[in-house]
Amino acid sequence: MILVTGSAGFIGSNFVLDWCALHDEPVLSLDKLTYAGNLENLASLSDNPRHSFVQGDIGDAELVARLLAEHRPRAVINFAAESHVDRSIHGPEDFIQTNIVGTFHLLEAVRAYWGALPDAEKSAFRFLHVSTDEVYGSLVKDEPAFTELHRYEPNSPYSASKAASDHLVRAYHHTYGLPVLTTNCSNNYGPYHFPEKLIPLLIVNALAGKALPVYGDGQQIRDWLYVKDHCSAIRCVLEKGRLGEVYNVGGWNEKANLDIVHTVCDLLDELRPSSAGKSYAEQITFVTDRPGHDRRYAIDARKIERELGWKPAETFETGIRKTVQWYLDNQGWVNNVLSGNYRQWVEKQYGE
Ligand code: NAD
Ligand code: DAU
Repeated sequence: MILVTGSAGFIGSNFVLDWCALHDEPVLSLDKLTYAGNLENLASLSDNPRHSFVQGDIGDAELVARLLAEHRPRAVINFAAESHVDRSIHGPEDFIQTNIVGTFHLLEAVRAYWGALPDAEKSAFRFLHVSTDEVYGSLVKDEPAFTELHRYEPNSPYSASKAASDHLVRAYHHTYGLPVLTTNCSNNYGPYHFPEKLIPLLIVNALAGKALPVYGDGQQIRDWLYVKDHCSAIRCVLEKGRLGEVYNVGGWNEKANLDIVHTVCDLLDELRPSSAGKSYAEQITFVTDRPGHDRRYAIDARKIERELGWKPAETFETGIRKTVQWYLDNQGWVNNVLSGNYRQWVEKQYGE
């Protein structure tokens, strides 16, 4: 079985859902259920005997040690993190606590467990750390995309905390021989994306008749990847990645934020025209820029393609259409998130 942390969040839940659809191997989910953790994302697995969920903190070394000893996973995939840049600007402490201290405690528990495994299980074991392109800092126009050799230049408390966790993971391989793999991925979008992030916020605000906030001049560039492609890349690295290696994951899909906003508005105009007969683009509002806002990210994903044969399946056009349609089809999920009712899912589903 595999242990997946942060499995009730956006990418973690997509990963677990896809895993359970594709594999017979059981999954143990561990998630603290912060504001970003939503067990409703995993609702379709509630009767699946191959999936079990534990609410807990990756920084709780005792809990993690007990789970490892009881379930004996052959791999740990670490998605758990505080993930929103704007929140890290307002309050960095949770980011330091989970992304750095939490990862440290998780690594310590995993090291002790792995160290005591019999030889065959020991050599088959993997710790896969899910990280971000933001650790590489910001690119100027026309500068080559980030390779795995790009120096670390994190600019926000979020990216600095992820950078620190990447370094810890690297050090646990170098010093203790822990069989680690690290992925650094670009911006994801898709189902179950919490509507504090750009794309889901745009969809939700547009439909609610609210402003579509564009930071600064809207010309910042991100490299967008459909979340299911990120999940397939992680499965691929888990299966075939070389120990201790870093793999950049991206969609070769750089877009300026303002272009993203217009694309989402155009799709909504087509799929759910506003009753007032106006384009959603009329709701675009330029607002104060994010402090320290990184101008451009771009991932050079040639290594994972060359070594492991991974390529994204979706283009931006197919992925963003699926995403907008998913939000239109899942207004109940959106409403539960917006009203805070998703928090009650735990009690409804799991009682005591
Ligand atoms: P998310 O915020 O949607 O989910 C994070 C999950 O981790 C939540 O379910 C939360 O409850 C859980 N969590 C937080 N602190 C925890 C703790 N101490 N112990 C256990 N669980 C905890 O984030 P996401 O967008 O799904 O990102 C998942 C991972 O992928 C993160 O490590 C992030 O840095 C990385 N990443 C995200 C993107 C992106 O575009 N979203 C891109 C590249 C990498
Ligand atoms: O690059 C990978 C990273 O992508 C992940 O590591 C992070 O966890 C994830 O949150 C994401 O970070 P960003 O800061 O790029 O994502 P966000 O959706 O917050 O913003 C995307 C861009 O849109 C960014 O340039 C800021 C801008 N933006 C964002 C919001 C929420 C706006 O213009 N208006 C907004 O309201």
